[in-house]
Amino acid sequence: MTAPRPLVAGNWKMNGLKAALGELKAIRDAVGSGGAGRAEAAICPPFTLVAAAAEAARGASLGIGAQDCHANASGAHTGDISAQMLADAGAAYVIVGHSERRADHGETDAVVRAKAAAGIKAGLTAIVCVGETRDQRVAGKANEIVGAQIEGSLDADFPATNLVVAYEPVWAIGTGLTPTTADVADMHAFIRGKLEKLYGRKGVDIRILYGGSVKPSNAAELMGVKNVDGALVGGASLTCADFMGIAGVYK
Ligand code: PGA
Repeated sequence: MTAPRPLVAGNWKMNGLKAALGELKAIRDAVGSGGAGRAEAAICPPFTLVAAAAEAARGASLGIGAQDCHANASGAHTGDISAQMLADAGAAYVIVGHSERRADHGETDAVVRAKAAAGIKAGLTAIVCVGETRDQRVAGKANEIVGAQIEGSLDADFPATNLVVAYEPVWAIGTGLTPTTADVADMHAFIRGKLEKLYGRKGVDIRILYGGSVKPSNAAELMGVKNVDGALVGGASLTCADFMGIAGVYK
């Protein structure tokens, strides 16, 4: 059994004007000169920068993704962006079901599953996010919540090769708090079990990223946990120095 190739993906959230493409190009160059080692590296800027970022990364080893997509390929959905449009703009990944979207836009597991399906259909790799809140963890319900999100947000028909799962405890996002490595190991093993149930042998190769306050100072410890196949990085993906400080653990 070989471990899947790790993925370190940056989620820029609602950050980044055109000037931020300078940072993206610095990341592209650092990844190009081997800074991410054996890991695959990707940046998911806001929609407005996807095409320009993809253009800047064309032919390079840095992938570009988006942070959401609509479930439909086209139609009367003012303000929305389809997965096909993202692929057309040069994206290779789409994050779906991030807890900020689940909370701010009321996205249910069914909506997330439809978005992931649309992303995969358009040829993108869907990065499907799951994670419990602080109260849910304190109540001992973390596995129950994440298990239900996995079952509701994934479809057994998804091709495992185009699927990534990101475990992001909501209370760890942007707070500087992280779970213990033992808690991360438990949850990732639990998710692996769910994926093997859904996808059989192929579930072993689906990457399970950890996300939530990953930074250069804790990346080696978190990425060293069994069944952690990379990171989804928010704040620390905004600068080349921090992002490469994380991706660099795979050198
Ligand atoms: P953070 O965000 O790294 O800033 O905690 C992670 C995420 O929300 O993807």
